Amino acid sequence: MELRYGAEHALDIAIDALILPIARSADGPIWPAVMSVLTPSLFAELIKLAKDAHFGGKIATTLTVPTLGLLPAKRLILTGIGETENLKPNALVRAAGAAVRAAWDAGATDVACALPSAEWGIVPSEALKLFAIGATLAGYRFDDYRGFAAPEVTTRRNVDTVQFVSTELSNEQAKTALRRANAIGRGVGIARDLANEPASTLTPEAFAQRAQTIAAENGLEIEILDLDALAGIGAAATLSVGSGSVNGPRLIRLSYEPEGNQADGRVVGLVGKAITFDTGGYSIKPYEGMLTMKVDMAGGAAVLGAMSALRELDCAVAVEATICAAENMISGTAFRPGDVLKGMNGVTMEVLSTDAEGRLVLADGLVDTARRGATELIDLATLTGAAVVALGDGTTALFANDDGLADRLLVSAAETGERMWRLPLIDELEPRIEGEVADIKNTGGRAGGAITAALFLRHFSEGLPWAHLDIAGSARQEEATSLGPKGATGVGVRTLLHYLTGV
Ligand code: BES
Ligand code: MN
Ligand code: ZN
Repeated sequence: MELRYGAEHALDIAIDALILPIARSADGPIWPAVMSVLTPSLFAELIKLAKDAHFGGKIATTLTVPTLGLLPAKRLILTGIGETENLKPNALVRAAGAAVRAAWDAGATDVACALPSAEWGIVPSEALKLFAIGATLAGYRFDDYRGFAAPEVTTRRNVDTVQFVSTELSNEQAKTALRRANAIGRGVGIARDLANEPASTLTPEAFAQRAQTIAAENGLEIEILDLDALAGIGAAATLSVGSGSVNGPRLIRLSYEPEGNQADGRVVGLVGKAITFDTGGYSIKPYEGMLTMKVDMAGGAAVLGAMSALRELDCAVAVEATICAAENMISGTAFRPGDVLKGMNGVTMEVLSTDAEGRLVLADGLVDTARRGATELIDLATLTGAAVVALGDGTTALFANDDGLADRLLVSAAETGERMWRLPLIDELEPRIEGEVADIKNTGGRAGGAITAALFLRHFSEGLPWAHLDIAGSARQEEATSLGPKGATGVGVRTLLHYLTGV
C-alpha cells in the first residue's frame, strides 16, 4: 500500500472513496469543518443517514455512503475517532484502520483520507502519523501462498493507495510523519510476515538469512552463530533444544549504534524467543496445542521488526539484540526430560519438560546480550499458556525486576495501544523451580506457570534491570480486527519502538 500526502481540500478530490474522520460528543457525532462546503440539503441528508444507521462517531465504527454523482468522490467513508477529550493516540490508529477496511469492503482501491484536524485539538502531524500507521496495519495481508484466492484474481483487491489530505501541514512535516509511519508499519509487517510463514520454510537458518537482509538494508551490524559458534560460547541450552531437528539452531546478534556520540553509555538489550516450531519435543503437545506453534518465534520476530526501524526513526540509544532461533522437534538426537544443561553463566538447569524450551534458549540469549554490554534487558517470548489463562487473548504479561523499567514499558504500551498488564515476580514461588539434581528446573507446575517461568528467566538477568514480556496471548489473533487480519499481530514492535525512540 502506498501512502501519500497532498495539501488539498478533501471534498474536491475525485476518487474511489474519501475517508472523513468524525468525532463524538454525548449528543452524537461532531461533523468536521471541511463538510461545511457541502450544500445544506446534502449535509442534512448525510446527518439523517448517519442517524438512521446509528453512526455516532464511536472509535473505529464506520459508515460508507455512496455519493451517486453528488460529490467528486464515489463514496464517503465516515470513521469515528470517539471523544476528543483525552483522545488516546491509538484511537486514531484504529479509526484509520477501520476506515481502510471499510474501503476494502467497498471495493475501493484508491482512497483519499481527510485528517482529524486542529479544530479538535489534534496536532496535524501526529494525526497524519497515527492515521498512516493505522492504514498500513489494516492494509497488511499475507497472500504469499494464495493461488485462486489471491486478491489479484478475486474481487477482493486490497487498497492500493491512500492519499492523506490536510491544509494544516507543511510538506516537510508531512514527509517526516509519513517516513516515521512507514518505518513503524514496515517493522510490524516484518514481524507479522515472519510469524505467518510456515515452519517448513522459516527454519532457524532461514530466519537468520532474513535478519541478514534486513540488517544490510537498515544499517545494523549482524553476526550469526551456527552450531560450532554456539558450542564455542557454551550455549548448551540452545544446542539441546535444537538437537532434535535437522534444521539446527542459530543465535542471531544484531547491533544498532546511533549516529554521533552518545554520552550516557546506555545500551538496551533486546532478546527474542524464536522457536520456529514447537512440537513440545518428547513432552509432546496435543493436536490443538501444536496447531499454531509456527507462531512460537514471534518474540524474535518482534525484535527483528523493531530493529529494522531504528535508523529511520533516528533512535538515539544503542541497542544490542539477540534472537534465539531453534526448532523443538522429536528424533533420536533430541533432548529428553531429565537432561541437565549448563547455562552460560554457570547456572545449571534440569529439564522436566522439553515443552518448556523457550526459557532454555532465552537463558543463553539473556546472558549473551548482557556480556555484549547491555545495561538493561528486555525479552519477548511466546512463553507460557499460563499467561493466556491469566490475562486472556490480546494482552501481554509484563514481569520486571525494576519498577522504573516496568513503568516506562507500560507507558509505551498504553501510548501505542498494545495492551499490557504487569504480573508479580513472587519470591515465595522460587522453591517451585528448585532443581532435584541441578540448580533450577524448567517447570514449576501448573499453578502460577507464567510467574515461575519468569522466575526462571530472572536467574539469567545478570544483575541488570530486566523486563520479560510474555506474548503467548497477544502474538496471534483468531479474528480480524481494524488493525489487521487473523493471524500474527506483530505485537511488541510498536511498544519497543516507542520505548526506544519515543515515536
Ligand atoms: N510455546 C509454548 C507457549 C505457548 C502456548 C505459546 C500457547 C503460545 C500459545 C511454550 O513453549 C510452552 O509449551 N509452554 C508450556 C510450559 C509448561 C510445559 C511448563 C505451557 O505453557 O504449557
Ligand atoms: Mn513449548
Ligand atoms: Zn514454545
